[in-house]
Amino acid sequence: MAETHGTVLVTGATGHVGRHVVAGLRRAGVRVRALTRDPATAELPGDVEVVAGSQLDPPGLRRHLDGVSAAFVMLPGFDTDALTESVRVVGEHVERVVLLSSGAVRDGLPAADQPGTIAHAHAVVEEAIRATGVSWTFLRPYGFAVNTLEWAEAIRSRRPVELVRPEVPSAPVDERDIAAVAVRALTEDGHDGARYELTGPELLTPARQLAIVGEVTGRDIAWRERPAEEWARTLLGRDAADEVVAGIVAGVTDHPGVRTDTVAWVTGERAHTYREWVAAHTHDLTGPLPPVSRTDAGHVLVATWRVADAGSQRAAAAAAVDDWRDRPWPAGLLAHSVLLGTDGHTLVHYSQWTEEAALEDFRRTGRAARNAALDEAVGGIERLDAVGYRLYREALPERPFEPGAVVLVSFRTDSADTGERFVDELLRRHPATTGEESPEGMAGNHFHIAVDGSRMLNWAEFATVEAHERVVADRLQADDDVPQLVERTAGLEPMGFQRFVPYRTLYGPPAG
Ligand SMILES: NC(=O)c1ccc[n+]([C@@H]2O[C@H](COP(=O)([O-])OP(=O)(O)OC[C@H]3O[C@@H](n4cnc5c(N)ncnc54)[C@H](OP(=O)(O)O)[C@@H]3O)[C@@H](O)[C@H]2O)c1
Repeated sequence: MAETHGTVLVTGATGHVGRHVVAGLRRAGVRVRALTRDPATAELPGDVEVVAGSQLDPPGLRRHLDGVSAAFVMLPGFDTDALTESVRVVGEHVERVVLLSSGAVRDGLPAADQPGTIAHAHAVVEEAIRATGVSWTFLRPYGFAVNTLEWAEAIRSRRPVELVRPEVPSAPVDERDIAAVAVRALTEDGHDGARYELTGPELLTPARQLAIVGEVTGRDIAWRERPAEEWARTLLGRDAADEVVAGIVAGVTDHPGVRTDTVAWVTGERAHTYREWVAAHTHDLTGPLPPVSRTDAGHVLVATWRVADAGSQRAAAAAAVDDWRDRPWPAGLLAHSVLLGTDGHTLVHYSQWTEEAALEDFRRTGRAARNAALDEAVGGIERLDAVGYRLYREALPERPFEPGAVVLVSFRTDSADTGERFVDELLRRHPATTGEESPEGMAGNHFHIAVDGSRMLNWAEFATVEAHERVVADRLQADDDVPQLVERTAGLEPMGFQRFVPYRTLYGPPAG
């Protein structure tokens, strides 16, 4: 069969795998028609033809098949009747189908005898595709690396992550690699009738995966075991039949230790490691706030910019983040966070370095070029100041949660000693020490002392900007002795506070 020259229909185009299939086909110069239930929110590239529909609506699908020579098909659920009919409709028009199937499917067993819901549904669709007589390729991935996102909520709110079967190894596969295989199968000859079992390159237990997330993001992430059956019931809903639950549970444990090199073999590129997947998804896992508490950050630089208006503020933040894509990441830079001032003009960069010497090295070798590129991308950036700090002490809430706002409270100090003494006094009165209830919405305080002794900075986290406004209003009415403490402390001068919302944190390439 000839290589694909017509349009390729991508179903599930807004999904984890589908988005990368769309991107890969575009890179290969292939015309793409992307199927989504809601084109308005699909956020697909402008030059992609986006059409409204679903694989679960066969008559609607028929309208989008003119000129289509190949299709990428994924199952958005287990409604096998609708999917079988859709496959039949697609088969009437196209020459080639690439199915995102599942590693759970066993060869040599009819669909009816496949163990478990997942294997059964995918096998039914595989059989339906075979019956159409088109050229087909079945991708049978095992567990996706992207399943890690199930842990994001717990990581963000600093609760223990619940691991199902923490000791059972698997080789999580990166969605980019599944898509790369799909693009090959959609655009090249030689994949007809292939059933590709896809995994990542290394076997890792869930506990080890979580440890890697911790290493990459500089967080100490606790975990506890969650019974597989309970997890499956939450996933499927209370009314799920016992055998369906058992099928999902079996899927977690049935084939531990499967690892293939099919991705590299088909694409000619090594498969992404789990570490690389985590590095590409740290924002999704941990949110936009930096890991302020990380213990390997020996030096913190807090740099403040001012721009003309809120539009420039966002543009400057985006440019500061995007610029790292084209630039070598400096040795010793652990994480770089950007925060947006609620005044619509200020931006703060919070960068964590292993040591001051690493920052100095970057200042000598890389900073000028980066600044020039950013000034070219966004006009009118005023660089107000950049102060080097070390984290001194912290007060963390008993029940941590994901903060949505950061308030930077600064003091001028005549020495590091003055700053430290003031923080020690403050912490003696802090709810974290006295056992009093914390004001509602207050998440944590991280006190920093300037390396040159000239400042103390309180990085205070709150649930929302409004929560901080409430705390300030309540404090003004209450009998709060902090203002007196400030006045009493010789060599200390308040500089006021500024409110920020987190924009984004980028992490360096992880070691190892
Ligand atoms: N996760 C794993 O470990 C694993 C392992 C092996 C195989 N698989 C298989 O891989 C597939 C999932 O791939 P994926 O992660 O790329 O998919 P996904 O991101 O979960 O979803 C893909 C797209 O399907 C559409 N969709 C969702 N619900 C739908 C519904 N009820 N009706 C119609 N369309 C719907 C959505 O697009 P719109 O909102 O734009 O319409 C969504 O963006 C499944 O078939 C799964 O069985 C998964």
